Amino acid sequence: MSQNRLLFTLDGNASLQQALQQRLSLQRGDCEIRHFPDGESYVRVHSDCRDSDVAILCNLHDPDRIILPLLFLVGTLRELGAKRVGLLAPYLAYMRQDARFNPGEAISSRHFAALLSGQVDWLVTVDPHLHRFNTLSQLYTIPSQVVYAAPLVAEFIRQQIHTPLLIGPDQESEQWVAAIAADVGCPYQVLQKKRHGDREVEVSLPQTEHFRQHTPVLLDDMVSTGHTMLAAIGHLKKMQMQAPVCVATHGLFVEEASQRLLAAGAERVISCNSVPHASNAIDLSPVLVPAVQSFLSM
Ligand code: R5P
Repeated sequence: MSQNRLLFTLDGNASLQQALQQRLSLQRGDCEIRHFPDGESYVRVHSDCRDSDVAILCNLHDPDRIILPLLFLVGTLRELGAKRVGLLAPYLAYMRQDARFNPGEAISSRHFAALLSGQVDWLVTVDPHLHRFNTLSQLYTIPSQVVYAAPLVAEFIRQQIHTPLLIGPDQESEQWVAAIAADVGCPYQVLQKKRHGDREVEVSLPQTEHFRQHTPVLLDDMVSTGHTMLAAIGHLKKMQMQAPVCVATHGLFVEEASQRLLAAGAERVISCNSVPHASNAIDLSPVLVPAVQSFLSM
C-alpha cells in the first residue's frame, strides 16, 4: 500500500469511506474534530501527512456546521507537509442560491465556491444542482470533476421496480428524468411546479389517465424539506395513482422529511449514499472511485 495517499473523512460516510480506501489503496487519515464548550472547533491531525496526497471525504449537507472544521483541517494538513489536498463532497452545498432573487441577497453559490476554491486543490462531486450556472467551472476555479448518479439510479429502477412511470418534479428535471427513462425503457412525465416559499410548493401532472397501472417513481436531484415530493404525492393520490416510490440523489431529509413522505403515502423512500441516511440504497462508489483516482498520484 502506498504510504502517502491518505483519506480523511469528516462527518462520517462509512460506506463510501470503505469503498474508497479499499479500491484506491488509501490509508485512513486519523484526525480529531470536536467543539469547545463555547462552540469553537478543535482540529487535530494524528496521521503523518508529510509529502502526502490527501483526499477529504466530507458531507456538506449541514454546511455551516462543518465548513470551519473542514478549512482548519485543510490548513493544518498543509502546515504538516501534505503535498496536495482535494475534496470529495458527494453532495455539494449552496448550489441553489445561484442568483440574487431579491435586492441585496448574497449569491451564496459564488461565495461558497470562492471559499472552497481558495483552500483545496481539486473537487469531486455528484450531480451538483446546476441551474443558472451551466457548469461547475463557472463557480469553482479549481480542477473539478462532476459524476452522475443517473446510470446507477436507472439500474436500481430496472432491478427493483415493476412497470415504473418516472415523474420529474419540475421542467428543469426533464433532461435527466428523460435520460433515465430512456435507459430503463419506461415512460416519464414532468410536473409543473410553482414554489411559493421554502415550504409552500404546488404541482400538477399533465397526463395521468394512461398510467394508473404503473408504479410512479418520483425522482429528484435532492429532497430537502420534502415539500416538493409531498405536493407530488398529494397530486398523485388525487389522480388515484398507485403509491409512489420516492428516489432522491441527495436525501437531506430535513425536519424528518422521509417520515413525512411515508406518512403521506409514499410506498418507499430511496436515496443514494451521498448523504448517510437509513434510505440509502444506491451506492455511488462505482462512479466516485474513478473520479477520485484521476486526481491522486500513482
Ligand atoms: C429544486 O429545484 C430541487 O430540484 C428540488 O426540487 C428541491 O430543492 C427540493 O426541495 P424540498 O424538498 O425542500 O421541496
